[in-house]
Amino acid sequence: MNQFPEGFLWGGATAANQLEGGWKEGGKGPSVSDVAKFTDPKSMKELLDVHGLTDITDEDIKEAMATDDEVYYPKRHGIDFYHHYKEDIKLLAGMGFKVYRMSIAWSRIFPRGDELEPNEEGLKFYDAVFDECLKYNMQPLVTMSHYEPPLAIATEYNGWYNRKVIDFFVHYVDVITKRYASKVKYWLTFNEVDSIIRHPFMTGGLIESRFKKEEFEEVEYQAMHHQFVASALAVKITHENIPDAKVGCMLTKLTYYPYSCKPEDVLEERERMRSIYCYSDTQVFGEYPKYLLTKYKNKGWHIKMTDEDLKIMKAYPVDFISFSYYSSSCVAHDNNGLEMTTGNTVTAIKNPYIPSSDWGWQIDPIGLRISLIDLADRYRKPLFVVENGLGAKDVVEEDGSIHDDYRIDYLKSHIIQMWHAIHDDGVDLMGYTTWAPIDLISNSTNQMSKRYGFIYVDVDDYGHGTYQRSKKKSYDWYKEVIETNGASI
Ligand code: BG6
Repeated sequence: MNQFPEGFLWGGATAANQLEGGWKEGGKGPSVSDVAKFTDPKSMKELLDVHGLTDITDEDIKEAMATDDEVYYPKRHGIDFYHHYKEDIKLLAGMGFKVYRMSIAWSRIFPRGDELEPNEEGLKFYDAVFDECLKYNMQPLVTMSHYEPPLAIATEYNGWYNRKVIDFFVHYVDVITKRYASKVKYWLTFNEVDSIIRHPFMTGGLIESRFKKEEFEEVEYQAMHHQFVASALAVKITHENIPDAKVGCMLTKLTYYPYSCKPEDVLEERERMRSIYCYSDTQVFGEYPKYLLTKYKNKGWHIKMTDEDLKIMKAYPVDFISFSYYSSSCVAHDNNGLEMTTGNTVTAIKNPYIPSSDWGWQIDPIGLRISLIDLADRYRKPLFVVENGLGAKDVVEEDGSIHDDYRIDYLKSHIIQMWHAIHDDGVDLMGYTTWAPIDLISNSTNQMSKRYGFIYVDVDDYGHGTYQRSKKKSYDWYKEVIETNGASI
């Protein structure tokens, strides 16, 4: 294969809530992730039940906050990056990473989210992390919010449903972009902004049981509106504080195929894809697509939006579009009798032509190329694949080696399709960061045994282990891919 374009940003992606640990250290406040409970799905049926991150109630939060337990709340310990960051960044740099996508834990900077003064110790921690990255010429790509509104935002303010949260977030963004102006040039506002619809607590701090069942969907879209305004303001502030910064949106690129060529199935697919694109349409074009407003009208919803909100959204669209891509699935007009499987926080019809991971996510490299073509044609702005990877159970051999050829095969096949998208389809792609270069806690199941890394971390699902890091076979493989700018594939 020929090389990727010069300056292509190779790297890996993580999120603070899934790897940092140190949940009570350095002045950090609790976040919604610190009350996410471990479940141990033993079958596809159980997996289908938990993968959607079921609602968390006030009672669950009370129960969680009454204990310091880290076994059943694994995101509290993560992989203890908080104390291992120097070693971990060195290992990432060892693969020649050009970029490292990570997130700042909002509650490390503002423990409750609503303070006026930031927590200096939290700011210093990220200073040290960024310095360490830059020491190895690795550019940080920073997500401002990745599944971790401070817990008080959820419990005391009703999460993003409350307009005030826009101001709290904007203040947080102003503080971090001023502080790290000389260190961070690449930013993402909300991780998978659309995910508020699928896991309203983790993304939006919404406690579902507090609302009337029949009104909750409207609540989610109201909260989403506040995130759109906050995101546009974040673009504005970041550009003011860092004139050469690039700020992107981030969406879950769920890719669907019609189950058959029946027009009813094709129409179903078209509608499903609109329901995926509506979020990026809003953030890229700076206005709500007509089809989304039509949905609001038909449902009889009154999403409160001021003229000023709409002006802000229009004035500050994103500079680039980033997205996660793991798998594809099918849709049909009638699901009856069709086999269902999981995807990234979704349940969908199984495609008979492609294999699945052990977690039921269907492996479809061509789907990545299709996604890139669609996004490039639709938006005509640079794209960035900021998550792609295989969650698998790794086996440590007696001599300590880990032969994760399945991970190499997965990544290789996706990189090849990316290459075609650039060279054959004319897609403008800035870079590629795999999820996740080092093992960490799974977002959907809170398992540690669902591993994605090139670097193994000796921790099990119950937080037991030495926390020692070791290189898997894929480590040297990815190192060579980066060294040769893709030509080794
Ligand atoms: C992405 C999220 O959707 O999927 C990550 O941004 C998450 O936070 C990743 O970890 C993989 O999902 P999971 O459930 O396997 O961890």
